[in-house]
Amino acid sequence: MAEIDLEIVKTDGYEVVVGRHSLANLAELLSSELYSGVKIFILADENTLQACMPVLMGKVPQLSEAEVVEISAGEESKDLEVCAQIWSALGELGGDRSSLMINLGGGVVSDLGGFIAGAFKRGIRFINVPTSLLAQVDASIGGKVGVNLGGLKNEVGLFRNPESVFVDPEFLKSLPRNQLLSGFAEMIKHALISDPQYWEDLKQVSFYDLASLDASILHSIRIKNQIVTSDPFESGRRKLLNFGHTIGHAVESNSFEGDSRALLHGEAVALGMVCESFISHKLGLLSKEELNDIASFIFSHYPKIKIDELKIHRILELIKHDKKNVDGEIRMTLINEIGDGVYDQKIGVDLIVESLYYYERWAN
Ligand SMILES: NC(=O)c1ccc[n+]([C@@H]2O[C@H](COP(=O)([O-])OP(=O)(O)OC[C@H]3O[C@@H](n4cnc5c(N)ncnc54)[C@H](O)[C@@H]3O)[C@@H](O)[C@H]2O)c1
Ligand SMILES: [Zn+2]
Repeated sequence: MAEIDLEIVKTDGYEVVVGRHSLANLAELLSSELYSGVKIFILADENTLQACMPVLMGKVPQLSEAEVVEISAGEESKDLEVCAQIWSALGELGGDRSSLMINLGGGVVSDLGGFIAGAFKRGIRFINVPTSLLAQVDASIGGKVGVNLGGLKNEVGLFRNPESVFVDPEFLKSLPRNQLLSGFAEMIKHALISDPQYWEDLKQVSFYDLASLDASILHSIRIKNQIVTSDPFESGRRKLLNFGHTIGHAVESNSFEGDSRALLHGEAVALGMVCESFISHKLGLLSKEELNDIASFIFSHYPKIKIDELKIHRILELIKHDKKNVDGEIRMTLINEIGDGVYDQKIGVDLIVESLYYYERWAN
């Protein structure tokens, strides 16, 4: 499949510009009256500073005068202490209410940068230039920004839209393979909850030919955008995006607690999608054939995660504390069939345990 040069996805009040020429539009925008004389900050982490900044500067020379603010790579940077340091730095560097923040990085940079911009001087404009696959298809759109607090993910945050988002797949060429797969899990999710043809298309994607991803990136952005614009504050349909995440989040949090390897978000979500597909099947929704299709596709791409008895106990505890539960009952998004999600399904703990055993059996 071919590279995409330029496509525009319109969302509630802003545009997502997608393709290998998308940054030319950013260059044009920054040369316009809207940004004349405006102080520009670029937020990047140590990796995106090294791998992505040269690409950005090459395509958007207007940014040569921008102030670069660097953070350490990783989830630890989504922290109020880091925000405080950056707010002070913005003030010292002459930031004012007309300033612009450009978030160059993965989901950590867009979540943190959006939050910093959303609160600095009661809110300055920001633009996302997502560089990880996960941020391109998921984190940089939808308006959720925020940081972690006391070990709780995204505990403090806002709904705040960027001025625009520029998605250039060229950035992915420096992204490590495991990070590519992490983002790919969200694309699989998009297919499973809403688009059976897309599920077939994803089977044709090759990570050895990154251009084959372009069309899927665009398609995933369209799906996520369509869902979030139909339900911006997650009172209904947006919950579809939680598929794979009830069990996935718990397994991800659990992996941070022990001394085994911390899982990437998408790796845990891939496990979660296998388990939640199994639950969908057990409840008479998803057919056995489709469950097999999903599990074998996911196991062909993702490393197998070991789950022992001890972990299952802890994972259940974490699921019971999920903020999406209602009156102590576990609510989950399931699928009726491939391409058709259904949210707010009440689930018993036994079925979750059974699904983890199902995963274990496949994994061995
Ligand atoms: N706001 C939302 O709607 C939303 C949705 C999903 C996830 N998130 C958040 O996103 C975060 C995860 O995002 P992520 O997976 O992008 O993590 P991340 O930002 O930590 O990026 C992953 C790693 O890849 C590196 N990297 C990024 N782009 C690169 C490139 N082009 N070349 C080389 N290295 C590169 C980063 O430095 C980092 O080490 C989590 O904090 C999660 O909560 C938010
Ligand atoms: Zn996710």
